[in-house]
Amino acid sequence: MVITWWCLFLAARSIGMQAWIMASIMQKLITPLASSSEPPRNKVSVVGVGQVGMACAISILLQNLCDEMALVDVIEDRLKGELMDILHGSLFLKTPKIVADKDYAVTANSRLVVVTAGVRQQEGESRLNLVQRNVNIFKHIVPQIVKYSPDCIILVVSNPVDILTYVTWKLSGLPKHRIIGSGTNLDTARFRYLMADKLCIHSSSFDGYILGEHGDSSVPVWSGVNVAGVNLQKLNPNIGTDSDKENWKQVHSEVVQSAYEVIKLKGYTNWAIGFSVANLTESVVKNLSRVHPVSTMVKDMYGISEEVFLSLPCVLNSAGVSSVINITLNNEETDQLRQSASTLWNIQKDLKDL
Ligand SMILES: *[C@@H]1O[C@H](CO)[C@@H](O)[C@H](O)[C@H]1NC(C)=O
Ligand SMILES: *[C@@H]1O[C@H](CO)[C@@H](O)[C@H](O)[C@H]1NC(C)=O
Ligand SMILES: *[C@@H]1O[C@H](CO)[C@@H](O)[C@H](O)[C@H]1NC(C)=O
Repeated sequence: MVITWWCLFLAARSIGMQAWIMASIMQKLITPLASSSEPPRNKVSVVGVGQVGMACAISILLQNLCDEMALVDVIEDRLKGELMDILHGSLFLKTPKIVADKDYAVTANSRLVVVTAGVRQQEGESRLNLVQRNVNIFKHIVPQIVKYSPDCIILVVSNPVDILTYVTWKLSGLPKHRIIGSGTNLDTARFRYLMADKLCIHSSSFDGYILGEHGDSSVPVWSGVNVAGVNLQKLNPNIGTDSDKENWKQVHSEVVQSAYEVIKLKGYTNWAIGFSVANLTESVVKNLSRVHPVSTMVKDMYGISEEVFLSLPCVLNSAGVSSVINITLNNEETDQLRQSASTLWNIQKDLKDL
């Protein structure tokens, strides 16, 4: 008798009736009231599941910022492994749908797409060469994103971020306010941490911005640094200059060095960029209109005539960069910004196939 039932079960399985057997348990257990197939309202996709992509994804998931998340990568095993690993932790998450595929169809209807894909600089490789290799990768990625989510906002994280944000803007054909580069948001977070640490207060209570190009030639705006509205430049007029006896300028050098130091120690940076991307994501998906230093198109601002992306304090909400704060910069700061703009343009103008 047992054997007979077992055979019947196997037969049912082999002719594809397993679904029917399961459905009958489901039918006994659950009475459906609504047919549920509404599109997601707050879908976030992450392209690239390397260390940075996963740190972004996990930070966004842990802050419950989306109702659906999609992951995309070309390395299928890695992608499947990451998806399974996350899904096994579903019990501890509050994002009901998490999907992954190498096909961009999985990203359809995204509100925000975070791009972390790209290749890293090889030893002795020129910046132009690195950028061109990434352009070739982005030529595959960006049109696919736009095809499936024509109304999305794209947040570019891959480096060199300011140039790749420009590349994304060009390749996407989307209006400039919907293309954001993570820019100096992380440099600013590092700056605020280091400055606040010296003053024995929390980063969130130190106000100050690093603007311009992400990385070595970023611009700390010393004229604006303040705590509780008390301007530090009023307390020490030399702050940030070479003649400052307290040498606060050193903090900016530490910000620039810190990325290299972390890479030297652990091989890459990922957590802080992940947290900062989640913070930007929050402003977009919750329409917060919060000000963040992120990379935006700066043509016609501060006397810049080239089509380049640099970080300025931007108001971020569900429209993307809804506006830019016209921050008061001194002559030296403005010069630095223009200098970065022409450096970037010198690379961008030689890019092929844009
Ligand atoms: C997001 O970043 C802003 C600064 O840009 C900070 O004031 C705020 O506390 C951050 N929010 C969270 C939830 O981390
Ligand atoms: C987002 O906020 C802006 C500014 O407060 C508002 O004008 C806009 O209608 C809001 N958008 C959505 C989708 O709620
Ligand atoms: C910003 O405002 C100042 C005056 O407050 C003005 O001189 C300057 O042209 C403005 N800059 C931009 C980029 O609009």
